[in-house]
Amino acid sequence: MEMSKRDTILILDFGGQYTHLIGRNVRENNVYSEIMPFDITADKITEIGSVSNIKGIILSGGPDSVYDKDSPKMDPGILKLGIPVLGLCYGHQLIAHMSDGKVIRAAKKEYGDTEAYIDKPESILHGLHHEEKVWMSHGDTVSSLSKDWEVLAHTDNTPVAAFRHKTMQIYGLQWHPEVVQTEHGAQIIKNFIFDECKCERNWRMTGFVEDSMSEIRRTIRGKAIVALSGGVDSSVAAALITKAIGGHNLVAVYVDTGLMRDGETEQIRSTFTTLGTDLRVINAEDRFLEALDGVEDPEQKRMIIGKMFATVFEEQAALSGVEYLVQGTIYPDRVESGSSGKSALIKTHHNVGGLPKDLKFKAVVEPLRDLYKDEVRKVAKELGLPESIINRQPFPGPGLAVRIIGSVTKEKLEIVRHADHIVTKEIDGSGMAEGLWQYFAVLTSTKTTGVKGDGRAYGYLVSFRALVSREAMTAKFAELPWNLVRRISTRITNEIPEVVRVAYDVTDKPPATVEWE
Ligand code: XMP
Repeated sequence: MEMSKRDTILILDFGGQYTHLIGRNVRENNVYSEIMPFDITADKITEIGSVSNIKGIILSGGPDSVYDKDSPKMDPGILKLGIPVLGLCYGHQLIAHMSDGKVIRAAKKEYGDTEAYIDKPESILHGLHHEEKVWMSHGDTVSSLSKDWEVLAHTDNTPVAAFRHKTMQIYGLQWHPEVVQTEHGAQIIKNFIFDECKCERNWRMTGFVEDSMSEIRRTIRGKAIVALSGGVDSSVAAALITKAIGGHNLVAVYVDTGLMRDGETEQIRSTFTTLGTDLRVINAEDRFLEALDGVEDPEQKRMIIGKMFATVFEEQAALSGVEYLVQGTIYPDRVESGSSGKSALIKTHHNVGGLPKDLKFKAVVEPLRDLYKDEVRKVAKELGLPESIINRQPFPGPGLAVRIIGSVTKEKLEIVRHADHIVTKEIDGSGMAEGLWQYFAVLTSTKTTGVKGDGRAYGYLVSFRALVSREAMTAKFAELPWNLVRRISTRITNEIPEVVRVAYDVTDKPPATVEWE
């Protein structure tokens, strides 16, 4: 496989919240996809075509109405490139609007599961039944098309729920095939990328590892440094670089913040010692605790931790005589999902490994910059990293500090770490873990009355949370078996003297977030 000429589906981002899901859906078929801003020109696409085989273009959804003055528009030349185009939701309305079709405000907003009637089970809808469960989220709707276009499907409220051009390969779908709620969504995407675009399945992780190692060897001509966070991204980046240029050329800094879960530091130590990476474990627990002393506000905690991390890392970088900085940035970190930038700040996600500002490097190397998380995990497997790193649950950069409500102390850290260990071990051992996105303990810092032994006890309330989710954008609390819940509760109160009461968190997201802080 020649990396530069792989088949590619371009996705134009009109600000929809599922743009990355489209990208991942395409990639799951071993076809490379790349997200581009909606205002890319036809000329630019032709230019990109000289290095990649652009086989198809998908227009994402978006929050706007095509009639809004400031709504995102598309270069009409793109529809004339002769490359198959599929518009989804806003993209569907935009194509209709640009081609003299009629877009109107729907009498009734369609949201959620909807029945679609497939009038012509052809091309992108090939193989679908007459009635299909699809997922909709729209206010505007296409009510009619001009003469060169034909309707492929409708719903009770939407006369033109899917269409195609009579001679050119241009398609529109009002629903979202990229979300799991659309029953045959994956089939529709396959129909588009394979039958219409004639893509070959030439995006594979084995090829990626080989290409990436040669690129790393070409770029890094000296010593590099990486910050290990314990998570899969920075671990894979470090392992890839180690294999490419040798462990003696990579200084891997692991800052032991004292905010990590049980066993995490040891896991990192053993993995990277085995690989032969020049690993430096820096014990900075006291510095972090001092900086966090008495701080109760979660956003302030995140800021302090992010800053302290950068300081400790910078000190190590200055001491190490390195010229290159390696980062575990992955694709969704890089391409802001949603071009409108309107998404509200709920929490700042201060990730460990923030860029040092004062250091000068010859280059910043981000070997995973084009990968989605599931692809990073595949690379991790190829590189032989341990399961505990590959399948590590998402864990916030500020660590246990945001799983202790209010101020952080060493005593509280020990309690929450111990409780978390019990929750994790019990759920892992129960066979329930596979269906879960995250499960963990939280120290509420509330004190409550209990009975321990013969006397009254006054101790902490610990809560634990287990969630089912795909992307953490939304989540449902897991319906764990009661005997498992009871075992966890009993173990926590028996084994941790400071805790007298345990609560299971039965809140979905929304309204609650995943983390308590
Ligand atoms: P929330 O709590 O916002 O969490 O519903 C969504 C996902 O993000 C993780 N999370 C964080 N990750 N730094 C991180 O790197 C953070 O400050 C942070 N806060 C939350 C959370 O574990 C969940 O997977």
